[in-house]
Amino acid sequence: MIRQAPKAENLIWDIILYMDMRVEKLHCFFIGILGGYLKIPNEGLATVRCTKVVRNVNLEKLRHNYLFPEIEARELEHLNKYPDANIIRLGIGDTTEPIPDIITSNMAEYARGLSTRKGYKGYGAEQGNKDLRKAIAESFYKDLGVKDAEVFVSDGAQCDISRLQLLLGSSVSVAVQDPNFPAYMDTSVIIGQAGDFLDDTLKYKNIEYMTCGPQNNFFPDLSTTSRTDIIFFCSPNNPTGHAASREQLTQLVDFARKNGSIIVYDSAYSVYITDDSPRSIYEIPGSRECAIEISSFSKIAGFTGVRLGWTVVPDELYYANKVPVINDFDRIVCTCFNGASRIVQAGGLACLSPDGFKAVMAVVDYYMENAKILVDTFTSLGLVVYGGVNAPYVWVHFPGSRSWDMFSEILKKTHIITVPGSGFGPGGEGFIRVAAFGRREHILEASARLTSVHLL
Ligand SMILES: Cc1ncc(COP(=O)(O)O)c(C=O)c1O
Repeated sequence: MIRQAPKAENLIWDIILYMDMRVEKLHCFFIGILGGYLKIPNEGLATVRCTKVVRNVNLEKLRHNYLFPEIEARELEHLNKYPDANIIRLGIGDTTEPIPDIITSNMAEYARGLSTRKGYKGYGAEQGNKDLRKAIAESFYKDLGVKDAEVFVSDGAQCDISRLQLLLGSSVSVAVQDPNFPAYMDTSVIIGQAGDFLDDTLKYKNIEYMTCGPQNNFFPDLSTTSRTDIIFFCSPNNPTGHAASREQLTQLVDFARKNGSIIVYDSAYSVYITDDSPRSIYEIPGSRECAIEISSFSKIAGFTGVRLGWTVVPDELYYANKVPVINDFDRIVCTCFNGASRIVQAGGLACLSPDGFKAVMAVVDYYMENAKILVDTFTSLGLVVYGGVNAPYVWVHFPGSRSWDMFSEILKKTHIITVPGSGFGPGGEGFIRVAAFGRREHILEASARLTSVHLL
């Protein structure tokens, strides 16, 4: 229906007619009226076309713009003010180094083969290429009992988080770390697991927030954590950079088993671990009965734009009614996904060859050297810094300051983009996250700029 700019005499009738409309539809209506009264030309306001479809109420609940678009908007605003600013982006956490040639050559060769009678292939197995599933099980879960058939190859961890939410449905209760990677929280809201956002606590109702900060060594106090069906847990953690210790993860697994909960464990940064912290939840005894693990090639191999990840669902994981969870996940993958690109999976296989793995790990080491430079820089400013040892994220504390203020202060004084910690949940207030992805010269330049200014 096209809303026309109404004539004045029809206004009352129009109001009566549209009285029962929902807010959004009224919004369309009033925009139409406004256009008419202000004589705004038809293109634009007066011709807003509304359908009769009511917006998903769960999306209505989503409180903020997704964090990163908001940061982009602030960057644009900054550039409008300082058009010559040479911005250094240490915010969004996207990889910057080229993918090693050994990997792209494999993908190119596979792609070329698709143009030949012999090499052409159509749909693949929805769960992923058999060789790749085997290579993932052997490379990341050696001696941990993970079978090839329990590995589901995907187009990335974020997509798998959404597919897991589809699997779990709207009636499960959920716990998240606070601060947390926003995809867990936002997908919980979208699928209908969360209640309204509460302005006084800055939290959604019906979600258990597990505070993780320096005061508890970035691990929740489980003695005060309510039981939930699902526990999202990310280690090494984005944003704090903390890798949970074996003792902490043992506590988590014991807690989940005692409560009959399922842990959704995100190990997207496991290859960044430099100490003896577990790289997988399956290093913890008992976890096969209570944990799903999601992971990704994004930060292992610079595949953020190439798209490849995986999820492990162990055979021993059951619902309350004794149905194996893996059966349902298989169904979701077959119905809602149809498998990762064959070309990309060829790239994944190359990453896990001995030479390929050496090449991608050289890039990981490069980022971790960046992290060290950033940790040293902020430490030299007298700040307390976490992370940067087992993850490419540096978590800088500004006690008594607000995260968005520090984000703005740093941007204004140094033209460096960071991420305000509060964007990851109320537990991140007072922190900023600095990503160690970036070219070395930019990291060194950022370091020089930071040490030459006085931050609040
Ligand atoms: C903790 C965590 N999980 C998942 C993802 C998304 O990974 P992918 O690129 O595989 O979707 C990210 C990306 O930054 C992340 O930080």
